[in-house]
Amino acid sequence: MDHFELRNGVLHAEDVPLTAIADAVGTPVYVYSRATFTRHVRVFKEALAALPKVHIAFAVKSNPNLAVLKLMQREGLGADVVSGGEMARALAVGMPAADIVFSGVGKQAREMIAGLEAGVGQFNIESEEEGLELAVLAEERGLRAACALRVNPDVDARTHAKISTGKAENKFGVPIDRASGIYARLATLPGLDMRGVAVHIGSQLADLAPLEEAFIKLGELIAEIRASGCSVTHADLGGGLGVPYKAGDVFPSPADYGAMVARVTKDWGVTLMFEPGRVISGNAGVLLTRVIRVKRSSNRAPFVIVDAAMNDLARPAMYGAWHDFDAVQPTGERMTAHIVGPICETGDTFAMDREMDALVAGDLAVFRTAGAYGATMASSYNSRGFVAEVMVDGDKFAVVADRILPEVITAAERVPDWLE
Ligand code: LLP
Repeated sequence: MDHFELRNGVLHAEDVPLTAIADAVGTPVYVYSRATFTRHVRVFKEALAALPKVHIAFAVKSNPNLAVLKLMQREGLGADVVSGGEMARALAVGMPAADIVFSGVGKQAREMIAGLEAGVGQFNIESEEEGLELAVLAEERGLRAACALRVNPDVDARTHAKISTGKAENKFGVPIDRASGIYARLATLPGLDMRGVAVHIGSQLADLAPLEEAFIKLGELIAEIRASGCSVTHADLGGGLGVPYKAGDVFPSPADYGAMVARVTKDWGVTLMFEPGRVISGNAGVLLTRVIRVKRSSNRAPFVIVDAAMNDLARPAMYGAWHDFDAVQPTGERMTAHIVGPICETGDTFAMDREMDALVAGDLAVFRTAGAYGATMASSYNSRGFVAEVMVDGDKFAVVADRILPEVITAAERVPDWLE
């Protein structure tokens, strides 16, 4: 459930008409609903309430805006970060370092050092090589890094190939059949406090079965590691729960997920850790855009050219992803059209032959479910700058990220003397 609803014929974010945001901030603009974020956090927490010991780390990659992270911190969540930049954001909003999990398949030495010096609560190690490097960096500083070993369970998450992470051919984690040996070797290093295992098989999962399969394998691994004489006190189950992008689609609920986790993990005797991203942020945001013009074409549906493009919302171009597209002031009339942005490539297409609200030049519309992997994946392709972000709370709203104009980006570039 979200808080983007029609009231008196105008789409609102909570109590704010989106027309008012477009007037004040311009378009395109991402609009987030605080109440929706908060609701999703609470639903997720409630779903896990029956579990004995739980740590929830919001996947910062899904929406790293500082206002969003502040909200997560106020809701008591930690952060799952995958770069020094993400860690700095979590710390900047006052998240306790101990609540931060540092994941990522290619952590660089400077990032591991920054994590050690900040005192992050856990490193999720993705390879034996990385563990050896981290051990040295920690020992040099007289520290012991709390670590979980990320395993690759070779499970098909049955999601888009580009966001599957748990098949043997994917770059993530160590093969589960070698994990116990690697864990035992890393556990002998004085710089590491090997305390757990981690798994994340992919994102936008529509089905709990692959998750359950991966968790069962993880439970067997925990038993194997313990049998080898090592201790396991933490198990990080990652994120991945999918959300509906199309009105009417039904996805497993956090409650179903929580019940499955409780059943599979009941004898593990560990603190369970979670890294939800999309399930918290996805439906808490929309991308508000204005129709530049409607271009008729012979014998074909017209092109509705909007002022948002693939550089602002990459998911349709990148994954062929569907985002519901609705008029802000629907007339009740419908049309079939192709929705495209102004960028000079055919890939800048949000939808083909979409049955949608009828729109004309100047109308406002939204791409829904844009709160996760939206603004954060933006680029400045075609020198378009970066889109602004707004957060709504009841009847008020604030710009939580300024629009970055193309001239600001150009100002960081130089023509060397020898070209003048
Ligand atoms: N933990 C790890 C280790 C991850 O790699 C991810 C996402 C998450 C947690 C959060 O997953 P979530 O709960 O959001 O599914 N850009 C893509 C999604 C990439 C996900 C990458 N990893 C998209 O727009 O669909």
